[in-house]
Amino acid sequence: MSESVIVDQKLTKTEKYETLLPQITALVTGEADLIANLSNVMAALKYGLDFFWVGAYFVKEGELILGPFQGPVACTRIPFTKGVCGACYTRRETIVVPNVEVFPGHIACSSASRSEIVVPIIKNGEIVMVLDVDSDQLNDFDEIDKTYLEQLAAIMQAWF
Ligand code: SME
Repeated sequence: MSESVIVDQKLTKTEKYETLLPQITALVTGEADLIANLSNVMAALKYGLDFFWVGAYFVKEGELILGPFQGPVACTRIPFTKGVCGACYTRRETIVVPNVEVFPGHIACSSASRSEIVVPIIKNGEIVMVLDVDSDQLNDFDEIDKTYLEQLAAIMQAWF
């Protein structure tokens, strides 16, 4: 795999995901290593969709622990009871936060974060990881992000 992931930034959000997901699938085909694949997925998401921050939090040692990510340095450990990530874990569903300042318990790893989406990765009925995406713009995530990031979550669960 030597080619870069390419997404025309003039496309609509749906078109960007439609362009990016097949490229991500190609990128991970034939590779089963969790960290290698997650690392490439985070880079593909960051540069393909121009996310401010995107990364993994693994369900590990009774909390959420930071995994591969792209963007500014982030909180290392998040209790299940805290933040948008913790809420995603406890509610077992994708959470879209249009304005992080009004989400009770939001953890501000970066003061530049304005909106957020967190998607659970579920393996055999257990949440094994959450995929967290932050934006420095308000209202940046919607049903389109939810749909495509959940498709990606279905691909990622195979690596656990
Ligand atoms: N904002 C998240 C914490 C993780 S950082 O955004 C990378 C939360 O409230 O769970």
